[in-house]
Amino acid sequence: MNGVKVFAPASVANLAVGYDILGLALDKPGDEVIVRRGKTDGLVISKITKGKTLSKELTKNTAGLAALRVLQHLGEENMPIEMELHKKMRLGTGLGSSAASAVAGAMGINEYLGRPLEKSDLLKFAVEGEQVADGSWHADNVAPSLFGGIILIRDNKTLDWKRIYVPEHLSIVLIHPHIQILTSASRAILKDTVQLDTMIAQTGNLASLVAAFYTSDFNMIRRSLTDHVIEPQRKQLIPHFDEIKQIALGQDALGFSISGAGPSMFALCENSFIAENTMHAVQKFYSDNKIEVDIFISGINKTGAYKF
Ligand code: HSE
Repeated sequence: MNGVKVFAPASVANLAVGYDILGLALDKPGDEVIVRRGKTDGLVISKITKGKTLSKELTKNTAGLAALRVLQHLGEENMPIEMELHKKMRLGTGLGSSAASAVAGAMGINEYLGRPLEKSDLLKFAVEGEQVADGSWHADNVAPSLFGGIILIRDNKTLDWKRIYVPEHLSIVLIHPHIQILTSASRAILKDTVQLDTMIAQTGNLASLVAAFYTSDFNMIRRSLTDHVIEPQRKQLIPHFDEIKQIALGQDALGFSISGAGPSMFALCENSFIAENTMHAVQKFYSDNKIEVDIFISGINKTGAYKF
């Protein structure tokens, strides 16, 4: 066998109202891992493309650590294996780049070994891998990248998760201004207390968002996508956030917020027509102001990571 190649998609964590507990998978971009027989005992990262700053040391690389933990779990850590990591997305964008690598690492090993574990068994190894990136334990990027769709994490400690129904035709505009925000820094600025009235508003929106997804109630999705806790604290890290948000909502986007820890932003749209209008309006703002940005539209990836 010449080995296996797997793909793990990017993701949008938090979805405005579900900090650390809600996320969805994008159709694109994503990272790829190739796993094949190695020349020496044990796992080696033989190649990394487009991730110049990433370490090839297993315990310092999200894909490497996730892959290693799968091998250790199976008692196969001495098997000669080479792994190539092909980054297809930039680091620090807020689109779950490190999570996609971790998922691809865990899944690549599992596929190479003939799939001894179920996807759901891989979650904890991939979360452990992703922890290398920002030091915190949360599955809101890893779980959607692995399973696809919209995933709710009831409890991060025990990784108790649930798939949420995805309404048809949802389309997302992703906006990546060319600044880098470290997840650790974006987490460090958050207050660790929430007022009771804010908690009531936020949990109301979170619960109604989930109910609205299940019933494809777009008006309720629209009313629910207001983040009272995290966005007000983080938006000052992203230049022109309020202006971009107004432009997106003016194009009838269902909601707009920060993707994960930022700096990327997302506009959730009822269909691809609204998404295209939103994309063009936001693009115009950036070009009028001569600011560099990447903007693209994605659907929701419903299957998650896969083997080619
Ligand atoms: N829930 C995380 C955050 C996602 O917002 O910090 C980024 O890893």
